[in-house]
Parts: sequence; C-alpha cells; structure tokens
Amino acid sequence: MWGICSRTLVGMAKTCGIARPKHLVKPVSATRVAGRYLTHQRGLPCLPVPPLQQTCERYIAALEPIVETDELTHTKKLVEEFQKAGGVGERLQKGLEKRAGNTENWLSEWWVKVAYLEYRMPVVVHSSPGLVLPPMNFSDKPGQIRFAAKLIAGVLDFKTMIDNETLPVEYMGQKPLCMNQYYEVLSSCRIPGLKMDSVVNHAKSSHPPNHIIVVHNGQFFQLDVYNSDGTALTAEQLCVQLNKICDASPEMNAEPIGILTTEHRDRWGRAYQTLIKDKTNKDSVSAIQRGIFTLCLDGAMPHVSSELYRSCAAAQMLHGGGSQWNSGNRWFDKTLQFIVGADGTCGANYEHAPAEGPPIVALIDHVVEYTRKPETAPASMGALPMPHKLHFNITPEIKKDIEEAKHSINKLAQEVEIRVHVFSHFGKNVPKAYKMSPDAFIQMALQLAFYRMYKHSCATYESASLRMYRLGRTDTIRSASSASAAFVKAFDDPSRQNKEKADLMENAVKAHRAYTNMAVSGQAIDRHLLGLKMQALEENLSVPAVFKDAAYAKALHYRLSTSQVPSKTDCVMCFGPVVPNGYGVCYNPMNDHINFAVSSFTACEETSAGRLAQAVEGALVDMRALLEQTPKAKL
Ligand code: COA
Repeated sequence: MWGICSRTLVGMAKTCGIARPKHLVKPVSATRVAGRYLTHQRGLPCLPVPPLQQTCERYIAALEPIVETDELTHTKKLVEEFQKAGGVGERLQKGLEKRAGNTENWLSEWWVKVAYLEYRMPVVVHSSPGLVLPPMNFSDKPGQIRFAAKLIAGVLDFKTMIDNETLPVEYMGQKPLCMNQYYEVLSSCRIPGLKMDSVVNHAKSSHPPNHIIVVHNGQFFQLDVYNSDGTALTAEQLCVQLNKICDASPEMNAEPIGILTTEHRDRWGRAYQTLIKDKTNKDSVSAIQRGIFTLCLDGAMPHVSSELYRSCAAAQMLHGGGSQWNSGNRWFDKTLQFIVGADGTCGANYEHAPAEGPPIVALIDHVVEYTRKPETAPASMGALPMPHKLHFNITPEIKKDIEEAKHSINKLAQEVEIRVHVFSHFGKNVPKAYKMSPDAFIQMALQLAFYRMYKHSCATYESASLRMYRLGRTDTIRSASSASAAFVKAFDDPSRQNKEKADLMENAVKAHRAYTNMAVSGQAIDRHLLGLKMQALEENLSVPAVFKDAAYAKALHYRLSTSQVPSKTDCVMCFGPVVPNGYGVCYNPMNDHINFAVSSFTACEETSAGRLAQAVEGALVDMRALLEQTPKAKL
C-alpha cells in the first residue's frame, strides 16, 4: 500500500466521488520514490465476480422500464434456463471465477479488446472524447505559441510526478484508487491493425522518448523537450522552438498524412500497411507513436457568434471540423493530443483505449493551473537545435488513401451535431441542499427530458469507475430504472399531487445512487454479463440464448450514452452518440452551474442535440421548482 505519508499529504479522502486536490497537484515527495506505484497497486483489491443469481435478478429488473411485457416474460424464461442448477450459466460463472483467481483483473483485458481494439468504427467521434477548455486570453500567433509553450511545460511538470512515482493517490470515499491509467496516457499510441488494433506504451521501454510531436499546418515535427542533462526545456526555450516550427511550416500541407487516422479502422489498417512500406514513412510514423504527446497548433476556425462558440470549439476538439479545417492537423491514434487554436480556443482529444476521462482531466486541470503561473523573466539561452521535421513520401496509392480519408471525415463532421450548453440556474449546490446526489439528480433530469421528447424511457448508459479495484476501468450505471420510469411518467401528469411527484423523484434519485454504489463496488450487471458471454467464447461453447435475445440487444442499444467528468477547470468533455438514433451526453457539474456537451447524428430525424439540451434545461428547472413547491422535500 501507499505509505501513510502519501495519504496525509494528499488529504483528499471524503464520503464519495473521486477526490482531487483543489490546486496544482503537488508531488508527495521531492525525489523519486522507486517502487511506490507497484506497492500501491498490489495493495488494491481484485475486481470481484458478482453472484450469478444476483446479476440475473438485476438484469430482469433493468429490463422492466425498457422492454414490452411479453418480451420480458420471454426473457425471464431464458434467464431461468440460463441460471438453473447445473446449467450453462453456472459453468460459465465457475470459469469466470477461475479466471479471476488467475489474473490481476478478470475483466480489463477483455474490455479493452471488445470496447476499443476490436471496434472498427473511426476513433474520431465514435470513441475518442474531446475536451473544451474555456477560451484562453490570446488571439494571435505569438499568444498561441506562448500559451502552447507553457502548456508543454505544464504537462512535463505533471510527467515528473509520473516518472518519479510521486503522484498523489486518489480516493473514492475512504478507498484508494487504481492509479494505473496515469501511467498509460503519456508516450503511448494506438496502432491500427487489419482486424484488431493494439496499443504501445513507450514510457515503459528501456529508452523512453524525450520528444513530443508538434503538428502545424498538417506537418509533423519532432521536438526534443529535454536538455542533455535531463532537465526539461523551459517555457521560454519551448517558445523559441515552436516559433521555428511555425516558420518552417507556413502553408497548409495539401497531403495531411494525419487525416488517415480519422478513417474506419479496417481501411486505416490497410492504408497503414501501405504507408509504412517506405522506410522514411515508417520512421516518421514511429516518431509520432513514440512521442510523449502531440501538440496540435490549429489554424483559426470560422468565426461564430458567442452563443455558438463553445459548440464549435467542441467540434474542433472532437473531429477538427473536416479536412478544410483542422482534421488533418491531428494524429487521432495518439493517446493524448493537446489542441491550441490560433484564436484562443484550446482543449484536447484523447484515444480512449488506455484510460477514462478523469485521469486525463486531472492532468489537464494541473496544466491549466500551471499555465496561470506568472511568467518568469527569460534566462539567457544557449542555441537549441532545429526541431526535426518528419517527412513522408506520398505515393499515388497513399495519395488516394488520403483523398478517401478526407471525404470520409468531411462526411462524418457534417453528420454530427454537437451542442455545448451551460446550464446556469444552479449546479451541485441545489441537489446537495435537498440532500440528494447531484449526479443522480442530473441523470433523472436526463430521464425526464428524454421522456418528454419521446414518451418512453430508453436504455441509458452512465459510466461508473471501477478504479477501486486493481486495473479497474468502468461498468455501467443503468439510469433507466422502474423508479425513474414511475417518476418521469408522473411528472407532467396533472392528476398527480406535487407531494407524490416529489416522493417519486426522491425515490428515483435514491435508486440511481444505490445503483451507482453497487456499480463502483463491482456489483453491476453489464460487465458480468459480458464476462459470461466472453467465457462461453473462450470455452468454445455456443453463445447462450440469453445473449441472442432481442431484449439483450435492446438493453445494449443506448439511446442515451452519458458520463460525468468533473473538473476544477470550467471545461467540458464531449463524445459522439453510440447508436445512430442516440445521444452522447457528457457533463461537468460545477458548484453553481453545469456544463453539458450533447451530441447527436444529423442523419437521424428523431434526434437533435440542441433539442435535448433545451429539454434537459427545462427538466432541471422544473425539478427544482417542484422541490421548492414541496417544502417537506427539503430535509
Ligand atoms: N446529500 C448531499 N450531498 C451529496 C449527496 C447527498 N445525498 N450525495 C452526494 N453528495 C455530494 C458528494 O459528497 C459530492 O460532494 P463534492 O462536490 O464535495 O465532491 C458531490 O455531491 C457529488 O456526488 P455525486 O453527485 O453523488 O457524484 P459522485 O461524485 O459520487 O460521482 C460517479 C458519481 C458515478 C460519476 C462516480 O462514482 C464515477 O464513477 N465517476 C467516474 C466516471 C467515469 O469514469 N467517467 C468517464 C468516462 S470516459
């Protein structure tokens, strides 16, 4: 376990939620503490395998609000058959328990494979989240470069804590969390494959990289960020280097090679093979993959009204706006890309396979705080070598792949509607005053908003962290419950009394919080069901009928795919919907306001990110009004 000193220094333990320091993350030791990470990791519990019967019962309960009665009757029979004594469910459960005994985490490797590496849709929009920061205080090239230089210095400052194993441990309540994801996000990259991708992490190699990659006008540069004595370049030195890069790439590259990474993974996998046949290309790609992270110095996007500014910024972070804007100024396979626009628009995009949002946001919070530190007077600087431009030999075949990728990303960028909505009436403060979990309150507002638009409830996904367990990733909080369905149905019914509605709301919020507690302690149903299915495949058994059932497909058709990603900075993460007629909803509840990023696909006539955002606003306002009109609700 981590030493007592790390806990006391961090001093972050609290009743629930992932706890973070309120200011710049400070290392727990001034020097390297070798072995501290592993000692901590080994002290974490292993992810449990929930009891089979418990999952089966909870699965049926989760289906109740989203399937028809006759479907449910049919599924109940399948589930009974599946879980009966001596049946296939029992066999798979035993297999899973055995796997849990032989691995560090019975789920994580399967999960990364199924959710990310075997998923063949483009990582852009479909998998990689974007993150929008508030606009920074610059609007010209020198300002852009100065800010970018500070940002690089801030990331390197954070990296020192990772390298030295002095990063403060995070807690959920009193429980320490797995810190592995922090060790996976720098110097790593996804590699496209023909059927399945992989991820490499060069931080763990015997020669970890000393460089980052800078992309400007679709051209890639390798920028060494450490001096020969191992000290990091200062912000002033980085400024000089970034200026050299910008001077060396004044025009937009007509063949922006990075656009290939926006493609469908099978196509990119094939194009990748063609690309790296050439030795120069292979070396350039390798430099990008090995880089600590990528910095994208973006050109300005079209000017929009202040009302639309954050939504356009979200599009820039999510997909770059298309080939005519900044989609080619990226390497979307890179785990971490910071984006600094010419007009003060800043943010990031990250490839999801190695990590969830919270560690990325913690890093970004630190970096933003770091950039706010007053500038130090420039010290005298020795001459630094010119950053190395990465060259690519573009054959006609590669040119064709680039043209096809341009076409695909332009279509995809057109197909996504993304709306950033700042809900300014209240934040976490109001639900807290009513002794309700703010997250559960927001989720119930989403349920109400959806019901008001479609007159039924839908399968809803909210990510729950499994980081209380070693190498834990996520499970699903199913926000649509019988309690939420009863609440949303009653809410606009004039025949129901306010007191009854408020009670139903309280029930629904409590049910959501109970599901959350169950999920973060490894007792939710979704990853367990996935594990049972994977176990069947592992044992070469035919997939049990319960997984071929229409109700199972319905349960996984998440028209609402949601996630809370809280931060200190007034930012918001964004991601695309996971089904064609669905919504992606990410939110950051601050004390007195809530930042929402809502996405939908324009090809679907039924959905509209703007309309859902408005409906959520209405639902939140109406829910508070109900509480105010029902004084007893305020405990
Ligand atoms: N009365 C008063 N206050 C309450 C309360 C109640 N009944 N319930 C909770 N609160 C307080 C909490 O103490 C906390 O206080 P803080 O603002 O001082 O931190 C705050 O309200 C937030 O709690 P809550 O809204 O319940 O959410 P949470 O912080 O427990 O988070 C999850 C819930 C599900 C988001 C979290 O457990 C989780 O798993 N996060 C990770 C999700 C993830 O990985 N997303 C990324 C995917 S890419």
